[in-house]
Amino acid sequence: MAERTLLVSKINNGTVIDHIPPGKSFKVLSILSIDSRISYTVTIAVHVLSKKGGYKDIIKIEDRFLQRDELDRISMVAPGATISIIKDYEIVEKFTVKIPDEIVGIVNCPNQNCISNSREPIKSRFVVKSQKPILIQCFYCQRPLTDLEIITNI
Ligand code: CTP
Repeated sequence: MAERTLLVSKINNGTVIDHIPPGKSFKVLSILSIDSRISYTVTIAVHVLSKKGGYKDIIKIEDRFLQRDELDRISMVAPGATISIIKDYEIVEKFTVKIPDEIVGIVNCPNQNCISNSREPIKSRFVVKSQKPILIQCFYCQRPLTDLEIITNI
């Protein structure tokens, strides 16, 4: 069936984050520090039907291109999200976010006694034990973290 309306307009220049698991766009916005102070245009669609079945969220950010560490953070809260980089209304690059093999300086270890939480300048470090469902383990204290804990400690 032909689409009768376009839910969200195409953008001229910037980044589209599509296929975000439904409801997870709020966390992605927080990771990207998108709040009332921004001076670029952001459009958000929450819980919309996906062509591939089920529901998804979409975020379109004009005039902003994401850094590697931002993409790594998004991969952990919105696995399967696709990133399209738009220039002059054309998609110049499109890829699915990928969870890195090692997560350094992104997630805080919830174990207060962990050396990564001491005064030492040691960056948190996690090894990815499973991608789907996501399971990571602290390199220092072996504390495992599942998806919900990752979301609250990112
Ligand atoms: N998009 C946009 N502005 C453009 C081009 C594309 O906002 N100038 C958005 C589309 O609305 C879509 C995403 O970028 O959300 C990816 O575009 P495209 O690959 O053309 O869409 P689909 O074929 O629907 O992608 P998929 O198969 O990943 O669902």
